[in-house]
Amino acid sequence: MLEKEKFYITTPIYYPSDKLHIGHSYCTVATDAMARYKRARGYDVMFLTGTDEHGQKIERIAEEKGVSPKEYVDEIVASVKELWKLMNISYDRYIRTTDDYHVKAVQKIFKTLYEKGEIYKSEYEGLYCTPCESFFTEKDLVDGKCPDCGRPVEKVKEESYFFRLSKYGDRIIKLLEEHPEFLEPASRRNEMINNFLKPGLTDLCVSRTSFKWGVPVDFDEGHIVYVWVDALSNYITALGYGSDDDSDFKKYWPADVHVVGKEIVRFHTIIWPAILMALDLPLPKKVFGHGWLIIDGGKMSKSKGNVVDPVILCEKYGVDAIRYFLLREIAFGQDGNFTNEALITRINSDLANDFGNLLSRTVGMIEKYFGGKLPAEQAENPLNEEIKAFAAKTVEKTEGYYDEMLFSDALCEIWSFIRRLNKYIDETAPWVLAKDESKKAELAGIMYVLAEGLRIISVLIEPCMPNTPALCFEQLGIEDASLKVWDSTHSFGLLPKEVSVKKGPAVFPRIDVKKELESIEKEAEKKAKAEEKAAKKAEKKEKKAESKAEEPKKIVIDDFAKVSMKVGVILECKKVEKSDKLLVSQVKIGDEVRQIVSGVAKWYTPEEMAGRKVIVVTNLKAVKLRGVLSQGMLLAASKGDKLELVSVSDDIPDGADIS
Ligand code: MSP
Repeated sequence: MLEKEKFYITTPIYYPSDKLHIGHSYCTVATDAMARYKRARGYDVMFLTGTDEHGQKIERIAEEKGVSPKEYVDEIVASVKELWKLMNISYDRYIRTTDDYHVKAVQKIFKTLYEKGEIYKSEYEGLYCTPCESFFTEKDLVDGKCPDCGRPVEKVKEESYFFRLSKYGDRIIKLLEEHPEFLEPASRRNEMINNFLKPGLTDLCVSRTSFKWGVPVDFDEGHIVYVWVDALSNYITALGYGSDDDSDFKKYWPADVHVVGKEIVRFHTIIWPAILMALDLPLPKKVFGHGWLIIDGGKMSKSKGNVVDPVILCEKYGVDAIRYFLLREIAFGQDGNFTNEALITRINSDLANDFGNLLSRTVGMIEKYFGGKLPAEQAENPLNEEIKAFAAKTVEKTEGYYDEMLFSDALCEIWSFIRRLNKYIDETAPWVLAKDESKKAELAGIMYVLAEGLRIISVLIEPCMPNTPALCFEQLGIEDASLKVWDSTHSFGLLPKEVSVKKGPAVFPRIDVKKELESIEKEAEKKAKAEEKAAKKAEKKEKKAESKAEEPKKIVIDDFAKVSMKVGVILECKKVEKSDKLLVSQVKIGDEVRQIVSGVAKWYTPEEMAGRKVIVVTNLKAVKLRGVLSQGMLLAASKGDKLELVSVSDDIPDGADIS
């Protein structure tokens, strides 16, 4: 037997910093569709997904929640796996970057790069966006903020290791220019070349010392491997690279395609190839940068958190309906809008009307005219040849689109065939033929064409809608496994003549658009009210706590020693949105920068705060005030309506202890 050709496909590993939403599912569903298609075409597929669990942001979130980072990620990973099960994601391997084998392999990779002189030690002074876990220079910023997410960046200064990224610029330009297939769609290629490569690459800071939650550099205590080096390596460590058993690495690497969102194309087409070049490893064959699913604001905005939850969507409308919508509505590679209206319209028109009706009409007519079983004696209708040719063309075109990961086009093609078959029913008017006994054989032939067409359609939709084919096969009485495989779509007429059907429930029930939208609106209002109530309650509690300033109790010196205070300097400050009282400051305390929220807006403008020396309580548990993280407290003196921040003279540098 010939050995199967391998196909290695990956999704970006999910960073569990906020709730997994339908946008993340989009990426994974698309990858799953490709993996399923390739399996159907006889490939030996390795489909990798997982979670990217390290980094400062995760450390901070866990701290806020009062749990360890590992406890935090464990809980999220369990829910991610549940969701993938619900959404029928057929991954072959799930990697967690906290897995021991991965940690060890990353340490090995880092050490190898260091020993090869590809990584060197120096000092990093610059800007860092913690939510994106990305380094930037001043010129990268947009309006002084992170160019990727628009949030404030932090100034960091630490001893770090650097990867010699700058030396790979020319090779990567050559790669993109000489192998256009390496990065698709083409528009992303120009963006990489013009915006990042042509201006020149700088060496990349690949270790941090200001937090702990990551892969430790095993030959230099205190250094943590930069989370993107850790994360990107997953594509090879998951295959055993750097472990005792690297047989899967030998078998599956290089990846055939890394599917990634457009904002992380830069990491996958510049940093990742450079790391692989430095390790003398082959490069992935393709990086496909898909667009974003934009969540429509407007009327539905209040309900966002609710309706874009993939679990709620799947439970409400069915997994295959959601998968169909994602893959059909958004041309892969471009941005697309998500609205409840668009989703319900697609379910009604494409799934309930076109597809559902074709199946129920076909099964219903076979029951009505032939008692559920077609006779072997069948005659041809003049339109049959055209339908057969249409089926063949549909299969050919669908394959072409799937090969290019153009799922929307593939589904569009399949639906043209579905519509053609519905039209064929209207053209042949079986209800007229049924009245004429001499036309019974022709009528049977028409029913056969419909059933066979539906069989082929069921096979073609499987990559996108894995639950639906079984429901159709059941109604069409198809049990023979050979009639359900991809190659069987290449011949029209494989279905035995005596088709025996069994009517079942509607595969995609129609939704009452008006009622549904009203109910979503109601749910949204209910949720918004509950949120408002919770916010008011929290504010009341805050006020109560403030007014409950207790009589100072006597303490002993040990109690005082529990409070750690340091001198800080405010780098920048701004108002907290929707609050009259709060300001949020970025405060430099020696080597670190902290974000601190304080209720001083009545006394200080953000401009007056910037540059001010302050005293910071540094060992307070981090909290969120009005949704904004606060990692400490500024000391102030107050009496009646007066308030002044406590300070020290310019002679005392920030970072100095208060005791
Ligand atoms: N952890 C990194 C990936 C490391 S890969 C070595 C990461 N994680 S993420 O959780 O932030 O994003 C995972 C994927 O979901 C990314 O490809 C991202 O583009 C995608 N999406 C997140 N929101 C999205 C939409 N609204 N629409 C489409 N995809 C989106 O990045």
